[in-house]
Amino acid sequence: MTKKRPSRKQKAVPDVSLAKEEEQIKEHTLDILRAYHGERRNLIPILQDIQAKLGYLPREAIKQVAKSMRIKELEVFAVASFYNQFRLNPPGKHPIKVCMGTACHIKGGRIILEAWERRLGITVGETTSDREFDLERVACVGCCAMAPVTVVDERVEGKVSPTRVDGILLSFELEKEKGTDK
Ligand code: FES
Repeated sequence: MTKKRPSRKQKAVPDVSLAKEEEQIKEHTLDILRAYHGERRNLIPILQDIQAKLGYLPREAIKQVAKSMRIKELEVFAVASFYNQFRLNPPGKHPIKVCMGTACHIKGGRIILEAWERRLGITVGETTSDREFDLERVACVGCCAMAPVTVVDERVEGKVSPTRVDGILLSFELEKEKGTDK
């Protein structure tokens, strides 16, 4: 018999807050564009400021920047995706960083990464639709003796197995139910 895995129920973000968020994105992006007079040569500092303000580069902001600079949205997107410093998805409340350094890779880091992807229903670089978790792969975090390692929030989890991934997610679910989730 196959063991039942804990599932994550994702709540859709209500439309009201979505509209409010879009409005805020527009306002902040406009303020930043004004400060730089929307000049093309300031594209990177503009994107940096938007990310510093919003935590990521939303699609709406990219559109707005492109429109104001009279360049293609694709051009802004290309710059944003070229540099590692930019993120195109909103940060999750709980960042999950799977170490894919040599030691972790040898000890099954790929299997752990796939376990996180399956359980969260997202791939690396994405955020769950309820914005609870985002998933990243990182280079050695300096705890090779504990390989394979995942950093959950700021906490290092060592010798992670797919079952441990289930356990970690279950503990988040329980905390949420008890209302002790931060
Ligand atoms: S390789 Fe993963 S902690 Fe060093």
